Amino acid sequence: MPASSTNNLSPSNIHSPGAVRLTTLPPLSLYVHVPWCVRKCPYCDFNSHQARGDIPEHAYIDALISDLELALPSVWGRPVQTVFIGGGTPSLLHPESLDRLLSAVRARMMLIPDAEITLEANPGTAQAARFDGFRAAGVTRLSVGVQSLSAQHLRALGRIHDVQQAQTAIEAARNCFDNINVDLMYALPGQTLEQVLSDVRGVLEYAPQHVSAYHLTIEPNTWFHRYPPQLPDHDSAAEMQQAIESLLASHGYGHYETSAFAQQDNRCRHNLNYWQFGDYLGIGAGAHSKLSFSDRITRQMRYKQPREYLRRMAAGGAIQTSNVVLAKDLPVEFMMNALRLVDGVERRMFAERTGLSITVVATRLMQAVEAGLMVDSAERLQTTLKGQRFLNDLLASFVESQ
Ligand SMILES: C[S@@+](CC[C@H](N)C(=O)[O-])C[C@H]1O[C@@H](n2cnc3c(N)ncnc32)[C@H](O)[C@@H]1O
Ligand code: SF4
Repeated sequence: MPASSTNNLSPSNIHSPGAVRLTTLPPLSLYVHVPWCVRKCPYCDFNSHQARGDIPEHAYIDALISDLELALPSVWGRPVQTVFIGGGTPSLLHPESLDRLLSAVRARMMLIPDAEITLEANPGTAQAARFDGFRAAGVTRLSVGVQSLSAQHLRALGRIHDVQQAQTAIEAARNCFDNINVDLMYALPGQTLEQVLSDVRGVLEYAPQHVSAYHLTIEPNTWFHRYPPQLPDHDSAAEMQQAIESLLASHGYGHYETSAFAQQDNRCRHNLNYWQFGDYLGIGAGAHSKLSFSDRITRQMRYKQPREYLRRMAAGGAIQTSNVVLAKDLPVEFMMNALRLVDGVERRMFAERTGLSITVVATRLMQAVEAGLMVDSAERLQTTLKGQRFLNDLLASFVESQ
């Protein structure tokens, strides 16, 4: 659906109607949310709910398929590059349910032949036989939520699995899939630098293709927010991040985004599409979508509570909010994603993905280069090391204040 006109907006008409003109549409991904977990972790603010008894699996897959069908007109004819089934704990689903879901996706959307299809798994719900079933259903990449390989820290994090189960899950994932990710968290309650490195070394023994190492953050509306644990201070956490980067680099893992590390060619294509301001259709409870059209970029969110979502779907649709992103907000939204990537993005992507001319941010870019926060390049939009350290300040400079 290419638009016919080219884009030559100046900063002065960023507020005018029709300010956004996309000449091509970005790559499209599909996100599927599964909102249940065995137990809610005390640090987690994801849309995840403790499953009391059996989850309504059959009804939920039906709802997801209807959700997808209702959304099809907004992505008609566009190939889908990646699928990510996240949560919550999608590994709670039976492989048969996943097979029904992915078959329905394939029958309704044009998945590219080598589409990346990721599923998130919690080691407490993981059995090797299940992994075989997930692979047979079409999953190509498994992401295992390990968090730590220390009994003390798994307990402090309220995880439902022990060290042995975490190790068994990584091993089973590795045997079953050619492409796996392991999630770790660091700067945990009472954690030392040596303990962080011991976690990373423990994971490296399995040589996963991808490692995500997240700095534990204390989020509002979590147990940890109400009863804050004693955490390593800011400087210790920065030292841990540095040490993780060095250890992973020495084992051949490239650091390509704040928390993401990959062996050669194993960057997560789904997340890369988010960071490159690509499009995504999100289905399921609380899922977010970002969809582009020739003259606008839209965002949507589904109802968050699983029961409410199911009720709304039964009544004909579960979209809670839907809006067009204002042209003045697009530069900062683009930069918030693109500048998380260590290599940044090609400069042409700004106009391609926002539908605005890069002249609307020319002055700010120049100032960021002068302040040593961005690389002076005609080809790329990329932060310097200093820019990565002061990313929030840099992003603030792209907020449209008028
Ligand atoms: C949806 S969960 C992954 C799958 C599964 N639910 C699990 O926990 O095993 C996504 C990841 O986000 C990370 N995460 C969640 N809450 C976090 C927090 N407050 N700070 C840092 N990382 C967090 C964890 O590493 C977690 O594995
Ligand atoms: S971290 Fe994972 S398992 Fe724990 S509550 Fe959040 S989504 Fe569920």
